[in-house]
Amino acid sequence: MSFIYDEPEKIKKIYIKELPVLINESNELVCIPHSPDKPVIGVVGQRSSGKSFLAHGIIDRIYWYWGEPLISMNDLTHESYIWSTRNKMKAQVKILEKYGEKPMPLPIAYIYPYFKGFKPPEHEYISMSIPFEDFLKNSPYFLRLKQSEKYLDLNLRYIIDCKTPEEIQDILLDKIKNRSIVNTIMASMYRYLNQEITDFNSPAPAYLDISNTSDFDAMSDFEGMQYDLKEHPVSKREYGPVKMTEEEKEFIYSEFKDNKIIRDFSSVDFDKTKSYYWLYRSRYNPLLALVRQNLVPVINTEQLLSKPYFHPYMYYLLDTIIHNQSRDYYFESHKIPIWIHLEEVTRIASTQLKEKTSQKLIEIAQTGRPLRMGMIYVTQDYNKVDTIMRSQTTYLFTFRFKDKSQASQIKSDMGLAEYEEDEILHLKKHQVFASTTDHFVIYSPDGTRYTTDKSQKGRSLPPLSQHKSPGAG
Ligand SMILES: Nc1ncnc2c1ncn2[C@@H]1O[C@H](COP(=O)(O)OP(=O)(O)OP(=O)(O)O)[C@@H](O)[C@H]1O
Ligand SMILES: [Mg+2]
Repeated sequence: MSFIYDEPEKIKKIYIKELPVLINESNELVCIPHSPDKPVIGVVGQRSSGKSFLAHGIIDRIYWYWGEPLISMNDLTHESYIWSTRNKMKAQVKILEKYGEKPMPLPIAYIYPYFKGFKPPEHEYISMSIPFEDFLKNSPYFLRLKQSEKYLDLNLRYIIDCKTPEEIQDILLDKIKNRSIVNTIMASMYRYLNQEITDFNSPAPAYLDISNTSDFDAMSDFEGMQYDLKEHPVSKREYGPVKMTEEEKEFIYSEFKDNKIIRDFSSVDFDKTKSYYWLYRSRYNPLLALVRQNLVPVINTEQLLSKPYFHPYMYYLLDTIIHNQSRDYYFESHKIPIWIHLEEVTRIASTQLKEKTSQKLIEIAQTGRPLRMGMIYVTQDYNKVDTIMRSQTTYLFTFRFKDKSQASQIKSDMGLAEYEEDEILHLKKHQVFASTTDHFVIYSPDGTRYTTDKSQKGRSLPPLSQHKSPGAG
């Protein structure tokens, strides 16, 4: 972004590579530095205080200025839909312009996890299911079988390649002597299959093929996008087929050898194998397929939340993303990071939840660099955020809290002074208190750049795209 300071007769443009988040009380721009070590960013405060507004601004700028992919995992209130429109609030646009920024729509794509009885939204969306193999792999967690669970766990390796429930039943009957245990497992499995959440019988796909662009026709229109793309401030991420390297050629050799398709390598036609390679590599979980198309997937969890499989479902999604970061050739070789945005994070990882899903979030928070994953979490109840997540939080943006215990927890986690705790309790409407265990980069109105680890108080920069106003449907 460019940064223009106040005195018109002396305007000097400064291009910055950090991510601007707020304007502090000295009229300075407070930014998060760009690092391969992706941070954990917390945004906390009471109801309607400005949390989502700030998180939204960070998301827009990660996408547009850093060109890094994001996945919004937990849209419970359908509040991201409006992000596909550029910011049209006059007062906010004026602030953006003051800092050399421009309103931009965010190219979001809504994803709805499919289950029987799911009510489709009135706009374009993509529905998804879970691959049956992945469901089987995580079935002890999905099925919650209590005593019978260990029997399923023990025999998982025999059923993992099964294609039908009948096949599973036959194998389990063979392996488990106690018939009633098999019956319990199968009854539970059929209850799940009736929900149609896996690609065994769901009408929704478990994968999208990015080589098939028709898969991407159904998504929200992002008004103004074509125009804005022309003036994209950073170069667009590449996607789709890229030039093949020697390593990739070798990969194809081994693939073909294993598949016994070709025995004589000297006759390999590389143009053909290249398309085979990309076809093979282009099948992704819908979230990652959208990410590869430079879109921002938003998972709507309004309806999923009340289902008994909400946590296992989120587990599957997080596990798939983590796995992809370390294993997928494209993401790994291009060193592509991924940001996870979580509204109401305590629904997934909290001090009170004993779910395996929390462990996945903790894993992301703890292994920023090797996984290349950053996280932005939002909550009204900081006290309930999982202890390890709190301790891993690099940047914490705090809005108004009346509750003293919240401020005192923040003080102890972020190593604040007594007076700072008091400041948090006396923040004005939409005022934010930013603290870090790392450092901020700050630009003064005269263009001076400096770094500091001191806490900052100020107001959020508005998002580039439109924010949902209170009461809007
Ligand atoms: N810095 C700001 N300037 C102008 N308007 C703001 C600012 N911060 C927040 N608002 C407005 O205040 C309202 C509430 O903000 P926001 O959506 O961020 O609340 P929240 O803290 O996420 O609340 P909840 O906990 O209910 O989700 C929004 O309509 C938003 O546009
Ligand atoms: Mg909110």
